[in-house]
Amino acid sequence: MTKRSMLIKVHAKIGDLGREKADGVLIPLFEDHGELCGSFPQLDKATADLLCLLVKRGDFRGERYKTFMVYTHDPVAPRRIILVGLGKRDEFDLDRMREAGGAGFYYAREAGLKKLIVPAKSVEVDGFSIEELLEAFLTGGILRTYQFNELKTNDKPSRAMLNECVVMSGDRVQRESIKQALRRATIVSQAVYLARDLVSLPANKKTPTILAGIARSIAKRQGLKCKIISEKEARTMGMGAFSAVGQGSREPATMIILEYRAGCNYGRPIVLIGKGITFDSGGISLKPPDRMEVMKDDMAGGAAVMAILQATAELQLPLHVIGIIPAAENLPGGKAYKPGDVLVSLSGQTIEVISTDAEGRLILADALTYAQRFRPQAIVDLATLTGACVVALGDYVAGVMGNNESHLTRVKIAGEKSGEKVWPLPLWEEYFEYLRSDVADFKNVGGRAAGTITAGMFLKRFVGSAPWVHIDIAGPAWLEKDRPYMPKGASGFGVRLLMQLLMEWQQ
Ligand code: BES
Ligand code: ZN
Ligand code: ZN
Repeated sequence: MTKRSMLIKVHAKIGDLGREKADGVLIPLFEDHGELCGSFPQLDKATADLLCLLVKRGDFRGERYKTFMVYTHDPVAPRRIILVGLGKRDEFDLDRMREAGGAGFYYAREAGLKKLIVPAKSVEVDGFSIEELLEAFLTGGILRTYQFNELKTNDKPSRAMLNECVVMSGDRVQRESIKQALRRATIVSQAVYLARDLVSLPANKKTPTILAGIARSIAKRQGLKCKIISEKEARTMGMGAFSAVGQGSREPATMIILEYRAGCNYGRPIVLIGKGITFDSGGISLKPPDRMEVMKDDMAGGAAVMAILQATAELQLPLHVIGIIPAAENLPGGKAYKPGDVLVSLSGQTIEVISTDAEGRLILADALTYAQRFRPQAIVDLATLTGACVVALGDYVAGVMGNNESHLTRVKIAGEKSGEKVWPLPLWEEYFEYLRSDVADFKNVGGRAAGTITAGMFLKRFVGSAPWVHIDIAGPAWLEKDRPYMPKGASGFGVRLLMQLLMEWQQ
């Protein structure tokens, strides 16, 4: 990766809103926005009471994601006021705030504005702190304005780019806590950008070897430990499932391990595992050509895990976190593994390959077994694992399964708070019947029924006693259409979900 996508710079300032030079002031408003009139006297004056008129006459009603712009005049420094709707007050949650931030920043960028002001006091809602509201608003704004332009030579954005946002506050103490909130928003959004950049890259520019190099450079920058196990080493170590998937490609597989430890005494690690298939052609069980190009996103779990390690280190969370990314390219080369092959996994269990397209669970199996060496207090894996999960849940939420109720509950709550929601599916033992094999301990595919669950049951066979949660992100990892705070394409799903989990982690 030569270049990383740039984030809008956000910072907090004390001072008079009317005096700060900017292209616009961005103000979120509820549908019943009587409070607008009079709450920014400097702005009322500068717009000849237009803001009051707007409210009275109902030209702008504050509906969700709607924007409305008015020009100011001297002596007010910011050139415009941009109102953005939050919808109904009684339907409010933090996702509304992210959506409004997304809509406001998107409007500003499309209008060619470079610098925005957000007044801290414009975001006041009972039951929420100003800091969490601002964090959500700015996160939404930053996430919505992501663009992947690295590989374009002729279509550079011609307009000046929105690149700065100042949060104005009148209060010195408040400014300090706002600064912290902005720091979190920036670091987490930066991690989402990294995950999106990696997923957006085409497979020829992110081979397992290239991914390992990127992991090394992240490790160097953030002071993480980084270990790369080559395909050859993996085979000698006994990772027969992982290495089989890599052997159909001329690009050797790599197992990437990143480790973050705050200080020296943070006990047993939380292990995060991310599926890193840099391209999934299906292998010998070749996929149909329609939309196959999207299968460059099959490393979205791995990309998220790398990004999470970066953000965890930057935020210096008081934790011990290990990321494992089994990376491989699933191709039907001359040495490719085949349906009918029996693989001996690192755990010693044997697997009959039914479909080489069910490769994700194979690489995850050996990664899960490897994870046991670290005696983890908890394991989470993120994987674009099954098309069946997209059929069941669509692309708004991820499927979640696991072996421990309280660990599952934590992930579910983190999902609700972050807006990256997960929905549970059962891992009851009877589902294992679908995986019975005549020649090996079990098969890698259990037929069409309950495809997401049988994949989960397969993984469960490789998890020791540690609390484990498996998140199937096949749906939300890639979006076909723009969302209020997500451009279409790679979403970076999982980064904000697991950052929320880690930031609130209690042993
Ligand atoms: N990477 C795919 C799953 C996938 C499908 C992700 C669609 C995103 C969108 C995975 O490796 C796969 O091919 N799974 C098979 C499993 C089947 C052979 C049991 C599938 O879902 O079809
Ligand atoms: Zn596949
Ligand atoms: Zn796959």
